Amino acid sequence: MSVKIAASILSADFARLGEQVQEAIDAGAEVIHVDIMDGHFVPNMTIGPVVVSAIKPIAQAAGVVLDVHLMIEAPDRLVPEFTQAGADVLIVHVETCPHLHRTVQMIKELGVKAGVTLNPSTSLTTLEEILPYVDQVLVMSVNPGFGNQTYIPTSTAKIARVRRMLLERDLTQVGIEVDGGLKPDNVTEVVDAGATILVAGSAIYNNKASVTENIASLRRGYS
Ligand code: DX5
Ligand code: ZN
Repeated sequence: MSVKIAASILSADFARLGEQVQEAIDAGAEVIHVDIMDGHFVPNMTIGPVVVSAIKPIAQAAGVVLDVHLMIEAPDRLVPEFTQAGADVLIVHVETCPHLHRTVQMIKELGVKAGVTLNPSTSLTTLEEILPYVDQVLVMSVNPGFGNQTYIPTSTAKIARVRRMLLERDLTQVGIEVDGGLKPDNVTEVVDAGATILVAGSAIYNNKASVTENIASLRRGYS
């Protein structure tokens, strides 16, 4: 599976969000990653379906995937709204879904791809039963809630374990996404461990270089 770059708009300039999404697309990002935070499951708040629907036409025109990471309690309540808003992939946290299989089924019945994710301290055993039903697994490599945090080093071994779990079950079509603290100097180990989708926020949107240069640096990091 080829490695894709997912630009996390959390670190973008929200006063010119459309432009920043377009810049990432023009620079070759295959995925736009949208972080939804509710101030309960995570100690921060961001945006809702209205913003997802605002950027949908930009992503759609370019054939880019809109990846929506739900860091919210009881995500089932909002799955229909985010689907309607144009999410291509909806990712839920295992910690927020007591009936994870039901939630995943609901997402898929609405015609959207289903992803599951887990906090750094959550064991991969929580994924064992759901793996045959998902399109994507997202390994959080920072505690969710904020951009520009430091990559937690033990995440690399966790990514490798996810890859092994998928191989053992003959589920190699499932994407392995990694989110948090990815920079040009650590993407090699993450890709070598098995990551196929790299989420990057502050490495792409910062004042050090242009979005184009930053995405090129990330790609150089692993290729
Ligand atoms: C954190 C979010 C991430 C965040 C990553 O809770 O899920 O998507 O934007 O930001 P960086 O790449 O700056 O660590
Ligand atoms: Zn995220």
